[in-house]
Amino acid sequence: MAKEEDLSYKEAILKASASISRYPLIPIKGVPLMSYIANNWDSISAFCPDPSDLLIATYPKAGTTWTQEIVDLLIHNGDAEACKRAPTPVRSPFLEICAPPPIPSGLELLKNMDPPRMIKTHLPFHLVPSGFWENKCKTIYVARNAKDNLVSYYYFDCMNLTQPEPGPWEGYIQKFMRGELSWGSWYDHVKGYWEEREKKNILYLFYEDMKENPRREVERIMRYLDLSVSDEVISRIVELTTFKKMKENPMTNYSCVPPPVFDQSISPFMRKGEVGDWRNHFTPEQSKIFDEDYKKQMKDVNIPFRTLI
Ligand code: A3P
Repeated sequence: MAKEEDLSYKEAILKASASISRYPLIPIKGVPLMSYIANNWDSISAFCPDPSDLLIATYPKAGTTWTQEIVDLLIHNGDAEACKRAPTPVRSPFLEICAPPPIPSGLELLKNMDPPRMIKTHLPFHLVPSGFWENKCKTIYVARNAKDNLVSYYYFDCMNLTQPEPGPWEGYIQKFMRGELSWGSWYDHVKGYWEEREKKNILYLFYEDMKENPRREVERIMRYLDLSVSDEVISRIVELTTFKKMKENPMTNYSCVPPPVFDQSISPFMRKGEVGDWRNHFTPEQSKIFDEDYKKQMKDVNIPFRTLI
């Protein structure tokens, strides 16, 4: 193990403080990515997973952390203590993330883990390293309705001091609609995985379904992973992965990522966890413009998104 990997994740971030800033975005195949990611693109796209690895893919703020926790608990038969062995980004590395040393990159964390691994990505389908498809890795995609996703991303960009400044809310909506935020267009992202879901055996989930009936969705994930846990364990997993429980849990609430990366005094990582919070942010006029544009951008697909449950 390299010396820096002996440091805890939190200590590594604190050590790197002086070199952390809001990074500019650089396009990779038309997708704006944080410069640290873009500058390491060759090694990220060359990553070759093991066939037993699981990919958890999302547009940022669609419910990644929630899904990672559900999967880890399913794999560990609902053992809460086992899932407290490390914080989320260490248990389930973020494939493309790169940051100044000594913060370990996703690739470095993965190099030191034995498969099967739970690998997180925000890459759109066409940027996912081809090895995932060649090796027929299982993939869970979680999608969240555009308006709530946008609101959640806005707060995240306020508190994540490595992302570009979000700027005023009004302009942020425009940037989202134009696909100018980190990881690109939400519209292309949800469509890319949707179109490939059958060919690539992708389990395509919705945040709104998880909120509406978490038990049903945990069972769906269990079946997809070819696992079988008792009804009692399912109940425990549902309970352990409520918004409230995950907000209180230091291993899931991202307290492992201190300022100067996540400033949770600006907005907590576990912020609200609701469906329909967009109604507290969009004016009727903004909502109308957004909906008109949405119809155009989504006219070629029929993905059953719900903005309310
Ligand atoms: P909000 O900002 O709307 O609260 P990601 O993990 O992809 O970054 O997504 C983060 C979003 O998922 C945040 O949304 C967060 O609160 C929400 N979230 C995380 N865990 C959750 C849970 N157990 N139940 C509901 N929402 C959750």
